[in-house]
Amino acid sequence: MDEKDVVIIGGGAAGLLCAIEAGRRGRRVVVLEHNSTIGKKIAISGGGRCNFTNLNTGADNFISANPHFCKSALARYTPADFISLVEKHRIAFHEKKLGQLFCDGSAQQIITLLLEEASETGVEIRCGSTVQSVNKSNPNEGGFEIKTNSGSIVSETVVVATGGLSIPPLGATDFGYRLARQFGIEIREPWPALVPFTLSREELRALTPLSGVSVDASVSCRGAQFRENILVTHRGLSGPAILQISSYWGPGRSIVVNLLPEVAADELLREQENKELSLANFLSQFLPRRFAAAWCALHFPSQPLKRYTPRQLTDIARKLNHWEVLPVGTEGYRKAEVTAGGVSTDELSSQTMEVKKVPGLYFIGEVVDVTGQLGGYNFQWAWASGHAAGRSA
Ligand code: FDA
Repeated sequence: MDEKDVVIIGGGAAGLLCAIEAGRRGRRVVVLEHNSTIGKKIAISGGGRCNFTNLNTGADNFISANPHFCKSALARYTPADFISLVEKHRIAFHEKKLGQLFCDGSAQQIITLLLEEASETGVEIRCGSTVQSVNKSNPNEGGFEIKTNSGSIVSETVVVATGGLSIPPLGATDFGYRLARQFGIEIREPWPALVPFTLSREELRALTPLSGVSVDASVSCRGAQFRENILVTHRGLSGPAILQISSYWGPGRSIVVNLLPEVAADELLREQENKELSLANFLSQFLPRRFAAAWCALHFPSQPLKRYTPRQLTDIARKLNHWEVLPVGTEGYRKAEVTAGGVSTDELSSQTMEVKKVPGLYFIGEVVDVTGQLGGYNFQWAWASGHAAGRSA
């Protein structure tokens, strides 16, 4: 039977960084990836340019039942650590906005970097290798037997880096969650995150004239708030601010959109109450013209400002600063950039990602209940958790 020190299941960002670290320590490492190539998500990430980290990474950028869990791994593998790897491979990059670093060229460069580092450190990568089962070699001793479609491997340690449920055509499976349950490890029920919202048919019909228009707004839900663009689509709402807030949303909740985040709309409208200017024309000073016209048509027939009663102006102002929208759902794992929830952090060592009650078994990356906001944080978590496990496995 094939013998290894470390078997890593999943050749994505977390699995590969872990393999490189373990390989550097002289461990005999194999990465088992069921796709025909590694890093399929890396290849399409960041619109093909891979937003590989964020300069402002901190624990506040992550959602987890235990917000402190990610601190240790993030502190020991920082954005600067990954940047130095990117620089070593002479990959040109730039900051797009808000600390988000992207390749100037292509996301494929990050995959090449990982492949080169893995090869330098003697890591073996087996693509087209599906893991069918993982069991303890002997119930009373350490070590595991890993059955794959091309034979079995015995290994001292197993690292589960199978990611979440998002985008099934890219190879997403529930294998990691199933394996966790098999070993009696608690799972925080996963949900699709960083995902567009769907709206009711009536609401969609009403919003159709706004379709394709994006507007800078502040969006809030359950205590979280994001200021970026929102975009009305033919299915509902999208755009960075919507994707961000979707991670905090739950069925039956509304989100609140502030279309004038820098302005107290009631004061603004009170100053205009005797003006001839129509409401839509007035609002087009602050919002895209097409959006202002369609939004007024949706809520308040546009007429000269002086014709509105003080009460109507108060209603308009409230809606501008506090527009409640009730999504009927999300576009689900088909469109979600990540899967929130996952292997409970209570079960893992925050230093090493090893399962406390199953020595030798590790979970890293997106399969763990640590989910980043939009902007390169999810890769930083994949690198950092992979590094933590690679130092120990
Ligand atoms: P990942 O999903 O990358 O890897 C898991 C691997 O395990 C896959 O290759 C899968 O095929 C394999 N696997 C699953 N089951 C298996 C089994 N039974 N046997 C063998 N192999 C198995 N993040 C970010 O920070 N910046 C960005 O720009 C983007 N952009 C982006 C765009 C899009 C469209 C998506 C869908 C996602 C992003 N993300 C992102 C999120 C980011 O891609 C994601 O969080 C990381 O890839 C997670 O890395 P993991 O290694 O944990 O899982």
